[in-house]
This record gives sequence, structure tokens and C-alpha cells, in this order.
Amino acid sequence: MGLDVHCTFAQSILTYNFKKGKMKNSTPTTVSVIGLGNVGKAIATNLALGQHPVIVASRDFRKAKDFADTISESVIAKEITEAMKEADVIIPAIGFSDIKEFLTEYASELSDKIIIDVSNPIVPDGKGGFKKVIGEHESAAKVLSGLILHGAKLVKAFGTLGVGTLKSAAFDQSERKTLFYATDSTNSQPQIEELILDSGFEPLHIGGIDQSIRIEVFGDLHEFGNLGKAVSLAEAKIATAQSKHQIANA
Ligand SMILES: NC(=O)c1ccc[n+]([C@@H]2O[C@H](COP(=O)([O-])OP(=O)(O)OC[C@H]3O[C@@H](n4cnc5c(N)ncnc54)[C@H](OP(=O)(O)O)[C@@H]3O)[C@@H](O)[C@H]2O)c1
Repeated sequence: MGLDVHCTFAQSILTYNFKKGKMKNSTPTTVSVIGLGNVGKAIATNLALGQHPVIVASRDFRKAKDFADTISESVIAKEITEAMKEADVIIPAIGFSDIKEFLTEYASELSDKIIIDVSNPIVPDGKGGFKKVIGEHESAAKVLSGLILHGAKLVKAFGTLGVGTLKSAAFDQSERKTLFYATDSTNSQPQIEELILDSGFEPLHIGGIDQSIRIEVFGDLHEFGNLGKAVSLAEAKIATAQSKHQIANA
């Protein structure tokens, strides 16, 4: 990477601090999005719209570079291993079956990182719908938590809306919509909330990884589950409490 790229990225941090009213030398949470399919592109674009610097990586570096160049100066393309080295938070925007392989292949690069799982463990059912590829009562995040090694922390987030809504509901002018998240790592919460806020949503922590099933497809708090749409923070809090009540009384 040449000096120009570093200058541009440093400038984008200054712009970020200025726009957010933060101290000149405060550093936004460093984040890398790995995999530039529908969701990876949407997450990186939303962060860029929120002025949050973001590193993107793809198995094809040219694809990452072309994408970064079309979005904004605060999006920087790197090779996958470099992208992981330079960020505290890693978002593999990859299909459920491929993430398992990814977590194993890059276990040492992912040491001590915060890993955000966006995946939904579903495949087309051949009838125009989707079916789960794991047990009805299992969640992708719970399954993946068994593959997290070397002090890495797992967070379930950013996959709790369909990609169309993730794009269209970001920075809602009338009322911010909610992105739920789940994690056992209390220390990771400020960084996750910063990223969700900078992506144009309100964060709401629903509990530990054992609660992830609620915010995956078919879950009671997912757009393609009981909730059915993106909701405001007030609505999200009511839905979360109601669902808890229903679960407790079931
Ligand atoms: N689509 C939705 O509405 C939606 C909503 C919420 C959550 N999700 C979840 O988000 C994830 C991505 O979905 P998507 O719709 O964005 O899928 P997609 O368009 O098929 O993109 C998946 C990307 O994963 C990357 N990839 C695949 N195998 C990889 C590997 N072995 N190592 C590194 N990267 C690999 C590829 O990126 P490169 O080609 O750039 O390497 C590919 O473009 C899935 O887990 C899905 O369940 C999807």
C-alpha cells in the first residue's frame, strides 16, 4: 500500500472525528468486512455513509479495490490477511457453510478479535421458500461459537434484517430503525454499538449468544420471522419484552 492510501485513510479518521464531534486524536473502532457479496457491500456502504472508516477484503483483491474506489475515500481495500491484522472487529459477510471453513483457516489471524456473525443457516427449500440447515432449535451463532478460538469474541449482528431492508432502512429520517445484537462479551458492546450507530441504526442488546436464534431468520425478532419488518427502538424494546414474556409463559 502506498503513502497516498495511508494519508487518505488518516484523513478519513480526521473527517470522522470532526463530523462526530469527537477528540481529534480519538480513533474509531477499526473494522474489516470480509466478503463482498450482497451483505458485505451493504454493511461497508452503510458504514461509509456514516463516515466510519472501513477496510474491505475479498478473495479477489481487484474486486475489493474496485468496490472501495466507487464508494468513498473512507473505504480501503486490503488483502484478507492484512484486513484482519489491521482491524479489531472482523465481519465475515460469508454464507454459513463457508464461514466454518473461514474460521478454521484464519484461526490465528482472528486471535483476540471481535468476530461478527451475520449468517443465517438457511438454503432454498425448492418451493420458493427457505429451510434451516441446522436443527430447528439451533442457531448459526451458537454452532459457530464452538469454532471460535484464541480469545476471539463472537457477536451476532447485522444479519437481523434482509439485505434490502439493511440498505433501505439505514439512516431512516423519520425514526431510526433497530439492529439487534447478541454477545456474551460485555467488553465488546461499546464497539458493536458504535458500529451499529455509525451504520444508521439503533443498537439493542438482547442477551448472550444463546439468544441469537431470536435474531436469525425465523426468529421472533427477525424481519423474516415474527417481527416482519424493521422497527424503531421503542418498538424493538416492546417486542423484546413481549417475546420474553411469551417464552416465559410457553
Ligand atoms: N442476503 C440477505 O438478505 C442476508 C441478510 C442477512 C444475513 N445474510 C447472511 O449474510 C451472509 C452473506 O450473504 P450474501 O447474501 O451477502 O451472500 P453472497 O452475496 O453470496 O456473498 C457471500 C460472499 O462470501 C464470500 N465468500 C464465500 N466463500 C468464502 C470463503 N471461503 N472465504 C472468504 N470469503 C468467501 C464471497 O465474497 P468475495 O467473492 O468477495 O470473496 C461472496 O461474495 C450469509 O451468511 C447470509 O446468511 C444474508
